[in-house]
Amino acid sequence: MMRIKVHLDKRLSESHEICIGYDFQDRIGLLIVKDHPANRYVIVTDSNVSGLYGKNFLEKLRDLGLPVELLEFSAGEGSKTMDTALALTSRLLELGVDRHSLLLALGGGVVGDLTGFVASIYMRSVPFIQLPTTLMAQVDSSIGGKTAVNLPQGKNLLGTFYQPKRIFIDLKFLETLSDDEYLNGVAEIVKYGLIDEPGFFELLEKEVPAIRARNRELLEKVIERSCRIKKGVVEIDEQESGFRRILNFGHTLGHAIEAASNFTLAHGKAVAMGMIAAAGISVESGFLTPAERDRIEKLIGNLGLPVRLPEGISQSAVLERIALDKKKEGSDLPFVLLKKIGIPFISKGVDKSLLEKILGEMKS
Ligand SMILES: NC(=O)c1ccc[n+]([C@@H]2O[C@H](COP(=O)([O-])OP(=O)(O)OC[C@H]3O[C@@H](n4cnc5c(N)ncnc54)[C@H](O)[C@@H]3O)[C@@H](O)[C@H]2O)c1
Repeated sequence: MMRIKVHLDKRLSESHEICIGYDFQDRIGLLIVKDHPANRYVIVTDSNVSGLYGKNFLEKLRDLGLPVELLEFSAGEGSKTMDTALALTSRLLELGVDRHSLLLALGGGVVGDLTGFVASIYMRSVPFIQLPTTLMAQVDSSIGGKTAVNLPQGKNLLGTFYQPKRIFIDLKFLETLSDDEYLNGVAEIVKYGLIDEPGFFELLEKEVPAIRARNRELLEKVIERSCRIKKGVVEIDEQESGFRRILNFGHTLGHAIEAASNFTLAHGKAVAMGMIAAAGISVESGFLTPAERDRIEKLIGNLGLPVRLPEGISQSAVLERIALDKKKEGSDLPFVLLKKIGIPFISKGVDKSLLEKILGEMKS
């Protein structure tokens, strides 16, 4: 089992540990018994993960003598709402959960965000642990303490910064992930290669076949490096007052493309196109070289992610969505661009005409 320490500023949050391993749920149980005593444990999961892993994990914890219950909600982004948060809260009250209890978020980013949100506000906060089961959650959403629910007006509009007590990443979970869900995580991994370490980007270029084959040794290495990069950024700027925004590389346009597709396009695919567009803008703004942009596009394409906007997604719909982005400051929408591969920076804003040009070039 690999351990990574997340060092946080004590005034805001507690430091904690990310533990990475393969098929180590028995060990996770023992570590919970030893390091996280509580009067009651509640596994929160979704309807897919419950059958795949939740019930088995429940049994493992019960075998250790822990008082543990399992709560589940319908799988999918549609459940990341206040209604689900309130329904969970009612069940927690019925179970007698109090501030000496511990919640265990077993699932993808939806389970992690929602459980973290409930944990942060239930009885003015109860501790929780992240057990991410998608690649996206293992390399991204479980780390950093952002929690949220969606509102009809937009995604993640209600939320808190609230850190888990620990993050357990079991690679075994990835074996049942669909190709689309796996690619969602791969897109985030490419992002880390672009915003932090050129050496990591080169490793990804070299290991495309192993990544596509979900090779376990390689995945362990790639997940560990991704976690180290994300936690490094969070340690510098936990509450996103500036630097943490580099994690949004490719996401401003990615979210707009995803929304313009009426969410029919998987998040990772939209982010992949967002990263190519951001690389294109970086070239046009005189930073990145065209050869570097081409390397980025080649890696993304070789990994099985799209490099062109699918038909049916109109340029104007993407631009409209960008105009609505919640990260806008006045009329400027901060954009993460690249000086080089591995060297990101936050630009104040990008001209609409340049966005139009780049999106036009990306049509299929
Ligand atoms: N908090 C953050 O910093 C942060 C960062 C990025 C994304 N997010 C949020 O994460 C969410 C997306 O997360 P996601 O991509 O994990 O989606 P998800 O949680 O909806 O999971 C995707 C699908 O995979 C299924 N699933 C989960 N684990 C599985 C497994 N091991 N085998 C088979 N199926 C499995 C789920 O039931 C679901 O149907 C979004 O709501 C997004 O806003 C949060």
